[in-house]
Amino acid sequence: MTGIETSKAWTDLVAVDRPRSIAGLFATDPGRVEKLTLSIGDLVIDLSKNLIDDHVVAMLLAVAEVADAEAAIGRLLDGSVVNLTEGRAAGHAVLRRPAGTRGMVDGVDMAPEVHGVLARMRSFVGDVHSGRRRGATGHRLTSIVNIGIGGSDLGPRMAYEALRPHHVEGMRCRFVSNVDPADLEDCLSDLDPASTLFVVASKTFTTAETLANARVARNWIVGALGEKAVASHFVAVSTNAAAVRNFGIADDEMFPFWDWVGGRYSLPSAIGLSLMLGVGSDAFDQMRAGMHLIDEAVRSTPAHSNAAVMMALVGIWNRNVLGCVSKAVLPYSHDLRRFPAYLQQLDMESNGKSTRLDGSPAPYETGPIVWGEPGTNSQHAFVQLIHQGTSIVPVDFIGFAEPADGMSPVGGPDDVRHRTLFLNMLAQSRALAFGRSRDEVPAGPFADHRVFAGNRPSTVIVARRLSPSVLGQLVALYEHIVHVQGVIWGINSFDQFGVELGKEMALDLADAGPNDRGTDPSTHSLLRWYHGSSSGSDGG
Ligand code: F6P
Repeated sequence: MTGIETSKAWTDLVAVDRPRSIAGLFATDPGRVEKLTLSIGDLVIDLSKNLIDDHVVAMLLAVAEVADAEAAIGRLLDGSVVNLTEGRAAGHAVLRRPAGTRGMVDGVDMAPEVHGVLARMRSFVGDVHSGRRRGATGHRLTSIVNIGIGGSDLGPRMAYEALRPHHVEGMRCRFVSNVDPADLEDCLSDLDPASTLFVVASKTFTTAETLANARVARNWIVGALGEKAVASHFVAVSTNAAAVRNFGIADDEMFPFWDWVGGRYSLPSAIGLSLMLGVGSDAFDQMRAGMHLIDEAVRSTPAHSNAAVMMALVGIWNRNVLGCVSKAVLPYSHDLRRFPAYLQQLDMESNGKSTRLDGSPAPYETGPIVWGEPGTNSQHAFVQLIHQGTSIVPVDFIGFAEPADGMSPVGGPDDVRHRTLFLNMLAQSRALAFGRSRDEVPAGPFADHRVFAGNRPSTVIVARRLSPSVLGQLVALYEHIVHVQGVIWGINSFDQFGVELGKEMALDLADAGPNDRGTDPSTHSLLRWYHGSSSGSDGG
């Protein structure tokens, strides 16, 4: 393959004389902040505290041009077959298009079907909220339990927490993903079967963890309310109608989506049903509209002022030139606390690949390790390493000028704490970039330990407040960043073969007894230990 590494743009980029100091870049370019602050939708993105200058930006843009990122964005948004290894489109942008517009997926207008399902979801949610749809004993359904994993869990769970001020009064949503019995047990411990609705969410409806949990949940309902109650207490979200039927959920209790929606891109599809039940259809639609706003902006904005392209390029710079292995995402927002976990699947399942589209190995690093926790908690945990450790970890900070909707008004007690929160974020980004020199440290013992080298890159993303639309904008922004990076690296961001082998081996082991020698010596020894300890020994 002649990949990006053979282009002059790439060879120039990796050989460039890197800027030495972020502080130096500020000192020599008074227009830096203005040049490197971009807007997209309601988001303002300050890239100025990255180790890039005009020359580096020009070289990165040349790489984007060689990779033809602009055309790739167009192909994605036009529903072309971009997921080549699975021979299908990645049509998630169609899920958030406004009603009345076309939504092409592989040459077919899918908008009528998409909006048909959305209409069914809204009507079902309206029925549950109004009490028209009730449980088998006539109780209102007020506890929603989403059973799903990966993309059938992370998006709706993250968004349900993020949209806390929009939670519908009297409804509560819970999310069960882990096959560890503790997860479902913990969830159900204080729920009343009579008022509980299970949403079994699985694109394939073959995922072992989800089906195992769904079966136990079914037994819980049957045990309390009888077999007939299942119909009133279970709905499914899936692309696999036959498997849903087989599980015992009728066709009209299934909300479909399509194989061209990747699990980690499925939040605005029927996979968002639990979220819609939890926050209402208006908030859900505002989130979808926020996503669409970003899709259109990313499609129509030239690369140099396109926040998604520029963030993707800064990520390429940090990964491929500065050699940063990981990237931290630190939302200064309690409500966004699951956003890093959500991004982990989005980014790492999409770009954690080393084989390129033509089958050749990538001769450069691809997707970074993504991790994070909300601020300010993170400051009292791992941020020490980001400031003074031996690894450079670029950070994306995300913060909001105002507290979440519905909190106490400006000047009130929430506002004071919110101000502290926001200013802490600015202080962190500032300290990372500019550090503290030996001269600034008061003389005394161990003064060297108090020196901060600085020069650690970060990006700051801000918006006025975390509304449903802004949440959608953040999600779509990161989706496009991941896509553009995948395009430059020449990998398919839309398959996930890397998760298959472990699943297959787990199935193989299900039949393996203590003396099974068909594995490997380590697994064999651990199996023997397991069978010994799980059948009565003290487990030592
Ligand atoms: O974790 C692997 C994966 O295949 C993800 O891509 C997907 O989101 C998840 O499993 C759940 O799959 P399903 O929705 O089919 O149960």
